[in-house]
Formats: sequence, C-alpha cells, structure tokens
Amino acid sequence: MQRRRRPPPPASQLPEGCGGGGGRGGSEEVEVQFSAGRLASAAAVAAAAAAARSTEEEEERLEREHFWKIINAFRYYGTSMHERVNRTERQFRSLPDNQQKLLPQFLLHLDKIRKCIDHNQEILLTIVNDCIHMFENKEYGEDGNGKIMPASTFDMDKLKSTLKQFVRDWSETGKAEREACYQPIIKEILKNFPKERWDPSKVNILVPGAGLGRLAWEIAMLGYACQGNEWSFFMLFSSNFVLNRCSEINKYKLYPWIHQFSNNRRSADQIRPIFFPDVDPHSLPPGSNFSMTAGDFQEIYSECNTWDCIATCFFIDTAHNVIDYIDTIWKILKPGGIWINLEPDNQWLFSDCSVYECIVSKFESGSKVMLRCRRRLAARRHDKVAFLLVNSLTFPWFWHQSYRP
Ligand SMILES: C[S@@+](CC[C@H](N)C(=O)[O-])C[C@H]1O[C@@H](n2cnc3c(N)ncnc32)[C@H](O)[C@@H]1O
Repeated sequence: MQRRRRPPPPASQLPEGCGGGGGRGGSEEVEVQFSAGRLASAAAVAAAAAAARSTEEEEERLEREHFWKIINAFRYYGTSMHERVNRTERQFRSLPDNQQKLLPQFLLHLDKIRKCIDHNQEILLTIVNDCIHMFENKEYGEDGNGKIMPASTFDMDKLKSTLKQFVRDWSETGKAEREACYQPIIKEILKNFPKERWDPSKVNILVPGAGLGRLAWEIAMLGYACQGNEWSFFMLFSSNFVLNRCSEINKYKLYPWIHQFSNNRRSADQIRPIFFPDVDPHSLPPGSNFSMTAGDFQEIYSECNTWDCIATCFFIDTAHNVIDYIDTIWKILKPGGIWINLEPDNQWLFSDCSVYECIVSKFESGSKVMLRCRRRLAARRHDKVAFLLVNSLTFPWFWHQSYRP
C-alpha cells in the first residue's frame, strides 16, 4: 500500500509523459483520481498524539476507524430519520382528537416523508458501496462485522448537510446559489489568467475545502490544471460518486429538505426533490488535468512556490487559526500568484502574495474575520451577499405576515 502524504504536483510541473496530478488525460474512462493524505478526525489524532506520542500505526488505526465510522453513518441514516418521524407521529397522536382533526393531512405527510427517507437511504448506500476502494493509494481493510451501529447526532447532521450540498453543487435548483458564489471566483481567474496570455493547462489552481468538487470541476472545464482538496469523508465519498460514477444528466433524485420540520411554507416544500447531476461530470475537455486530494490542507500542502492560484470559497472560516491558513497559502503560492477568496457577506481578492503582513480583526459579530494585508495588496470587495445551503422556499428571516381574528 502506498501512503502519500503529499499530493502529486499538477501535471504541468512534471516532465512530459509523467501524467501526474491524477489528471484525466482526456479519456472518458479515466477517473478523477482521489489520493489520500491523513484523514482521521483532527481531534482524535491530536488527542492520541498528546497521550501516547502516537505511532504511525496508531494513526493508521484511527484513520481506518474514522473511515468506517463515516460509512456507518451513511448506512444509519434511514434508521435515524425514521426514528425522528416516528417521534413526530407519537407527538401528533398524543394531541386531543379535536386538535388532530385540524390537520387531517398530517399523518399522510409523514408517510410521504418516510418514502423520501427510504429513497435517500438508497442513494446513500449506492454512494458508500462505491467508495471502499476509491483512493488510488490507500485501502481501509474490511468492514468488520458489517453491523450498522447508531451514529452520533454530529455525524447525522454532517450527512444531512452533505445532502444539501448536492443541491448547491450539482443540481439545477442550486444554480442561483452556485453562480452567486462560484462565478465571481471564476471571473477573477479568467481576468488574471486570460487565455490570450496564458496556456491554461500550465496554470495550476488549487481549491482547498472543495466540498463536492463543483468549483474545482468548473475551473478544470475551462482548461486550467486544477486540484481540489477536501478532508471530510462525507464530502469525499459523495464527490467521488458524482465525479466518477454519474454521467447521465439528472439521473438521480434526492430529498434534501425532509430533515427540516419547521419553517416550511407548505408541507410539499419539505418533500420537494432535486435531481442531479445537472451536467455530465465526465464532459471535461480532452487533456484536462483535474484531481482531488484527501486530507488536511495544511498538512498536505507544504511545498513552496507551487500554485499559480488558490481559490477558496467558504473555507477560510473553517480554520482554527486563520493566520496559519494564510501562512500556508502564501507559502505555496508562486511569487506573483493570487489567492481568490469568497466568504459569506464579504468577498476579497488578495493579489501579489509575495509580500504580506496581515492583521486579523474580528468584527463585533465574531463571525466575520477581516483580513487586511498591507503593501501592494489589491483587495477588492464585492458587496454581493452569498448564501450557503439555503432552502429557497423556507421563510426568509425578515419575512412576516399578520393575521386578523
Ligand atoms: C463550508 S464548506 C465549503 C465547501 C465548498 N467550498 C463550497 O463553497 O460549497 C468548507 C469545506 O472545507 C472542508 N475543510 C475544512 N477544513 C479543512 C482542511 N483543513 N483541509 C481540507 N478541507 C477542509 C470541509 O470539510 C468543508 O467541506
């Protein structure tokens, strides 16, 4: 088993004929390659390291455990969701008859939700059935006794938000939200690396925190050499499925909103399906160089002066220490390379990254981190508001209506 802590450099950095970067090589049969770095949960690894100067084997064991834990979460989804619906039904039946009669369709609606849960579960099983051997350089052994165990609420929440990520990244329904976030980034790339002046296949672009991979895929579609990086198995299993197993447009259906029992205008909105993929992910142009790496961005990417461009979207706020993230970004960018970043509410472009001095200040909300880089920094702010994973049919929070008796 080969264990790769660092991803291969993009093909454009390798001598001719080396391939590299998991590039697709232009053939429809060639898969988007996923290579794995270390993927155990950071907290688990940190704890183990502190307690026992964790050995390589211990890390391997934790990583394997983590891998199977997430697969178990995918398999446990149906049980967990049915319990949720059963609880709601019990609560409803505990109401006095006259109150139940006010909602004659309610039990019928719960039955519809149950059908949607079963459908989602089928898709989730298809996704994980396909991921056991997804890494070109890593295997995670056998499935123990294969028994499905209860998964944590935390993992169930992650799984539900992964389902919503399908809307944003790979469905027609998510187009507006997707374009609001990805198009400004793509425009900056096109502006800074215009095809009249650059051979896009030689422009190396990294997308850390790539989620389900749509932004990285869009960049590769334009001919740039692009690598997505992601550390969550929830995302990795799902992006592997879309990028490598889906080719028929809108072949699959999901019900991403069924977990939301409040704030729905109509019952029908809760069981509204979405279809994916809205495009054929295999339609990359011949010779495309597109790959995904699995693992912690800071651990995997340490080589100086490697990337022409780093594009981050809703990523920087995942940092425990945002300055460490920025240090890594600056280090791995080539001199004169650019970092394009999009965050909720604010969008910043930092260019000429060879010089930096940054100050991090928090606004009173505590949720926005503003980065100010001095000297030769071109920071452009676009005042478009971006939303992440919103059900557009739910009540916007400024919406109100009054009723008269
Ligand atoms: C809020 S999501 C945004 C996903 C995608 N960029 C988008 O805009 O839809 C942040 C992503 O970064 C990933 N992530 C967080 N920390 C990471 C790290 N240290 N290395 C790699 N990925 C990371 C998370 O798993 C998650 O998928």
